[in-house]
Amino acid sequence: MLVEKNIPLQAFNTFRIVAKAQALARIASESDVRALLADPEWATVPKFVLGGGSNIVLTGDVKPLVLKVEVRGLRVVGETSKDVIVESGSGEAWHDLVSWTLDHNLPGLENMALIPGTVGASPVQNVGAYGVELQDRFDSLDAIHLETGEVFTLNAAQCAFGYRDSVFKHSSSASDGAQALGLKDRALILRVRFALPKVWKPVLGYADIERKMAEHGVSTPTPRQIYDWVCEVRRAKLPDPALIGNAGSFFKNPTVTVEQCEDIIAREPKVVHYKLDNGAVKLAAGWLIDACGWKGKTVGQAGVYEKQALVLVNRGAGVDGNGATGGEVMTLAKAIQTSVYERFGILLEPEPVVL
Ligand code: EPU
Repeated sequence: MLVEKNIPLQAFNTFRIVAKAQALARIASESDVRALLADPEWATVPKFVLGGGSNIVLTGDVKPLVLKVEVRGLRVVGETSKDVIVESGSGEAWHDLVSWTLDHNLPGLENMALIPGTVGASPVQNVGAYGVELQDRFDSLDAIHLETGEVFTLNAAQCAFGYRDSVFKHSSSASDGAQALGLKDRALILRVRFALPKVWKPVLGYADIERKMAEHGVSTPTPRQIYDWVCEVRRAKLPDPALIGNAGSFFKNPTVTVEQCEDIIAREPKVVHYKLDNGAVKLAAGWLIDACGWKGKTVGQAGVYEKQALVLVNRGAGVDGNGATGGEVMTLAKAIQTSVYERFGILLEPEPVVL
């Protein structure tokens, strides 16, 4: 098993932050993980699983052994009375999976077109966009345990999906029964299976999509139209990581009680908010940050994107230049948290993993 030393990670994280992996192994299948576990030099060292690097902030060189996931393959593996089951290797690009399913006349993922990152990272944070979350189309996944080498399968309930959350984001803790099964840094996802509905219905209702329908005079869009519109909307308001380093939304949209929301509305009548099924209210973090005047601001070489205040960007040069450090990104993030807290009494929670 070849473990490479001192590998630059700038091309492997979408923020394009300069940092190195002290050691990196490319994982194309479970046998590569088993080979590492059989090697006394690498068996017990801490490990970090790297997918598309679209949801991480590197604040220095990475000391754990980086496992760069390169498990490939896209195929139909079965069906139920309601769904067709599609399986993807975890190293496939998420958007390639979405395009492949539509090319094979298997709609269901179109609202999540153009989300950066790999398929293997998608269950970790339960990615979502325009009214559909991964958990709505999830069947099961195979993963390999990084201590025992055992391959195991999890269904949706076992993944414990939440808003941008899953069992893969939590550490095990003997003192916390609920999270005793946390799999953070303890498992590598190999394959993900999706259940795509045989009888497809569009998921509409998002303002951006409704606007496209009105513009095109369409009331019953096809999967391909939704795919094209989502791509257009994302390209118009989110920076392309190939051109401007970023990690998508930097903060989660916070949830507050009805009373807290009414209190904020009394002071800030325009606050963008959505009622949730459970009675709580979700606030648009982008609006809160925008209201504090952060849009377009820069600290060092880290900045707040001009068209969407929820996205922090690296204003430095491309893959060859140095650009923002992870420290600069976190300094900016903390300054934003402080001003949103002082004005609204809400502590924004970062979405990416900070290393
Ligand atoms: N808004 C502002 N100013 C801004 C940004 C947003 O006023 O600078 C307002 C918008 O006008 C809108 C509201 O805030 O009324 C929500 O904005 P948007 O529709 O752009 O969605 P979002 O809540 O900011 C979430 C996801 C995105 C996903 C979109 C569409 C999170 C953290 N982000 O963003 O996901 O693409 O909805 O479904 O839930 C990601 O997670 O990386 C991501 C891009």
